[in-house]
Amino acid sequence: METHRAHCLILPYPVQGHINPMLQFAKRLQHEGVKVTFATTKFLFETVDEVSASISVETISDGYDEGANGIVQKIYLPRFQKVGSETLTKLVLKLQDSGRPIDCIIYDAFLPWCLDVAKDLGVRAGVFFTQSCVVNNIYYHVHKGLLKLPLEATEVDIPGLPPLLASDLPSFVSNPGPYPATSQLVVHDQMEKIEEADWIFFNTFYRLEEKVIHWMAKILPVKTIGPTIPSVYLEKRLEDDKQYGLNLFKPMTNACMSWLNERSISSVVYVSFGSLAELEVKQMEELAWGLRASSYHFLWVVRESESKKLPKDFVKETFGKGLIISWGPQLDVLAHKSIGCFITHCGWNSTLEALSLGVPMIGMPQWTDQSTNAKFVKDIWKMGIKAQPDENGIVRRDVIGQCISIVMEGEIGQEIRKNAKKWKDLARQALEEGGSSDENTKDFVSKLIQS
Ligand code: UDX
Repeated sequence: METHRAHCLILPYPVQGHINPMLQFAKRLQHEGVKVTFATTKFLFETVDEVSASISVETISDGYDEGANGIVQKIYLPRFQKVGSETLTKLVLKLQDSGRPIDCIIYDAFLPWCLDVAKDLGVRAGVFFTQSCVVNNIYYHVHKGLLKLPLEATEVDIPGLPPLLASDLPSFVSNPGPYPATSQLVVHDQMEKIEEADWIFFNTFYRLEEKVIHWMAKILPVKTIGPTIPSVYLEKRLEDDKQYGLNLFKPMTNACMSWLNERSISSVVYVSFGSLAELEVKQMEELAWGLRASSYHFLWVVRESESKKLPKDFVKETFGKGLIISWGPQLDVLAHKSIGCFITHCGWNSTLEALSLGVPMIGMPQWTDQSTNAKFVKDIWKMGIKAQPDENGIVRRDVIGQCISIVMEGEIGQEIRKNAKKWKDLARQALEEGGSSDENTKDFVSKLIQS
């Protein structure tokens, strides 16, 4: 007997920073009695160890079932659109034939063609933005021609946002040259038919981006449903929800947690640049020496593909003071009492996780949305500071040392810790019964089952 109230198909872009929030939203919908099918690409499904047991998973194809390593976006994206549209259509029809018809496709904004698939099949569609409302409001203004590129002024004024310098804008706006295909996708393609989607979901919460959400909600059916973080770290309403549940990298959990257990309260600097960023060799070197010279312990995530950039013998020389891991259980790390601050690239998930777990940040943005997130962390949410790069874009070792001291010891650090408590509480409240994100999720479900 089918007891679910509706059936949603959820399709993320296949990278860690997009899978995590969409998988978490899937769990929330299931908690509300909706059946969810999570669709991944065939390649991804076959390479991961396991997917959260509570979620039913199906596959589509991006056209690269053997992996797309080394394939540039200019080639990858159109092939994904073509093969993805065909295989997504087949999947929806298969589910329909097997007596589990889809009521709504919730697709990643990076896969805008899903909207056409949904419309062709007569299924409703919700677009899911894995980045902040602020960042997407900037893209919206560029796409609509309301903010002209190349930028003509050093400071821009966009409705719902404070005045922003060019260096605070996403790299695809301040410097679109180096990644034309990705720039086209994020600035234009994902905004192209945004008005035609039935729902627009953002992984954020009302109090965090109040002004811009208020502005956007006047023109678009915006629903903020975040922070999409496993329930145990926040309001604890979803049973056993401790992890996202789909890891593209293998976490060194035991080594990492037992090392942290040996450290004293607030004594460790945690460093991670997420799943995609590639640091320049010079930057790795400066960071390494900055960490070695600081008086604190450090836990540094250096993905396998980045490890050859570490200075020779660095691991050996810093044994005891630092631990380098290829991937870790980031939420457990951020929630650990030994962590004093987080040197982060300010990817949106890392930013929301640090905010929700009350960990002060030192922003070292690399590209895409990260400069904008870093600006808000420092000046609007006052949850951290930004490490200033030199004229070559490299944050020097002495700057890293100074930033660590400021956040771990100084008055600014105290102020940040005070704000950290506030944001942690507000993030939890958004997800609690009656909180803004809880209400938005429930409202979506009730509209879905009504019609
Ligand atoms: C990408 C973009 O780079 C980012 O700017 C955008 O906002 C989202 O998509 P990524 O660079 O991987 O994501 O960064 P981030 O958004 O921070 O996501 C990384 C995820 O991996 C986080 O959920 C984090 O908890 C997780 N992580 C990271 C681990 O589980 N273990 C680690 O060791 C490091």
